Amino acid sequence: MTDLGELRDLALVAAREAGELLLHGRPAHLTYETKSTATDVVTDMDRASEALLVNRLLGQRPDDGVIGEEGASRASTTGITWVLDPIDGTVSYLYGQPMWAVSVAAEDELGGAVGVVHVPALGETYVGVRGAGSVRINSQGEQSLFRSDAVALSMAMVGTGFGYDSNRRRAQARVLLEVLPKFRDIRRPGAASIDMCWVADGRLDGYYERGLSHWDYAASSIICREAGVSVLGLNDAPPNSDMIICAVPSCVQELHDILAQARANED
Ligand code: IPD
Ligand code: CA
Repeated sequence: MTDLGELRDLALVAAREAGELLLHGRPAHLTYETKSTATDVVTDMDRASEALLVNRLLGQRPDDGVIGEEGASRASTTGITWVLDPIDGTVSYLYGQPMWAVSVAAEDELGGAVGVVHVPALGETYVGVRGAGSVRINSQGEQSLFRSDAVALSMAMVGTGFGYDSNRRRAQARVLLEVLPKFRDIRRPGAASIDMCWVADGRLDGYYERGLSHWDYAASSIICREAGVSVLGLNDAPPNSDMIICAVPSCVQELHDILAQARANED
């Protein structure tokens, strides 16, 4: 059995080193290329961060697998696969905003085992270990996270995000029109992994988004679940690229139901 504490420590070191590179090694002129659309970008720093993560993780555990947003791909012979988003919130990073993160998850045959979401510009790191809880680490120290508070959906602060394709964004805006009057308010911080960690942390009460990739939510799902936050997809599906919903238990079902209804209205 793999020691999850060992994976946690390694993920933390790797994410922090990548964060250091991204924060202090950013060139004056950031070069980028476009991916799926003209607004979906990959910078040289995304690639440098992914290379650093892969070298660090496989340097220590050469037989593990890797899946990275920028193309890293390697099969595992240990049963452990690292799922990496070298910059979640690349557009925020490009604009010099603080809401971007390095997201590192270790998965095994049971699913998510360890998740680290490091937010360099805020000096905060979220860590979740299956069966051992979640913490936020910042200059104040280490704080355990657990959401046991009851929040009604009408009083919930809900995060979301929008994809890079204009048709998808139009559909997301229509859903927003339907659901916004049912919440306290909405936030779009700019990085899915941070949005989800903020639900675990009490800075949001819920979050939903259509169109994410596994690396966007692999680490933050573990952090949420270990903090007592529900993470699901639509209509009994697990979270997936069609929809991810996460919220405190008191309002997750209602949030799910209004999103399912909004989806049904689209058809
Ligand atoms: C994006 C961010 C953003 C979300 C997009 C994601 P990326 O990830 O998480 O908040 O709204 O759907 O694609 O492209 O910056 O890694
Ligand atoms: Ca990314």
